[in-house]
Amino acid sequence: MISQPSYPRAPIDQAGLAQALMPFGQSRMLPPGAYTDPAVFDWEQRCFFGGGWLCVAHSSQVAKPGDQRAEHIGQGSVLLVRDDDGVLRAFANFCRHRGHELLPCGSTAQRNTIICPYHSWTYSLSGGLRFASGFKGRAGFDQSSWGLVELPVAEWHGLVFVDGVDSVLGADSAGLEAPSAGFSAVLAAPVELPRKSVAYQPEPLSWKPAAVTCLT
Ligand code: FES
Repeated sequence: MISQPSYPRAPIDQAGLAQALMPFGQSRMLPPGAYTDPAVFDWEQRCFFGGGWLCVAHSSQVAKPGDQRAEHIGQGSVLLVRDDDGVLRAFANFCRHRGHELLPCGSTAQRNTIICPYHSWTYSLSGGLRFASGFKGRAGFDQSSWGLVELPVAEWHGLVFVDGVDSVLGADSAGLEAPSAGFSAVLAAPVELPRKSVAYQPEPLSWKPAAVTCLT
């Protein structure tokens, strides 16, 4: 059984939500606040996009050792890195020195280290701190304690999933295997996602009307 973190209730008109959840033919659209209320957006960023496994990229976008890519996840961002051994890693996208963003969201890099643009603290592709300007030989500074914060990551049928739940809610992350089990049989043979590549980069849009349109 998968342990699920408990989320606060969405700040949305509950009567309107109940109408939206009625059986097909009786249901109504979500209440207006679901599309326009900043408090709902904030809740979604914390609990929906930052509180569990989220698809953030295609494996082909971080295919080679040294490939790096930053993506939004909830209210923060994640740095995807293919390390020297070909293992995909995900790190909270901030430096352990002063917390500067390591790579702007949506951008990529290809190099054999991870370098913070602020004071050039330098990390290995597996997240260990290699060089900390101004701290060399400083008494009490244990370099091995200042590696990047690693997040759970999994590749599944050519898609990259990251679980930001640890960073957002302090809860334990359940593995991706159980939630994805039901889909594997459907996707594995006919779709062959690992062979696909990304040919289209969508423009920013409101995901909710698009989802409603596809599901109704
Ligand atoms: S904040 Fe990254 S090196 Fe200073």
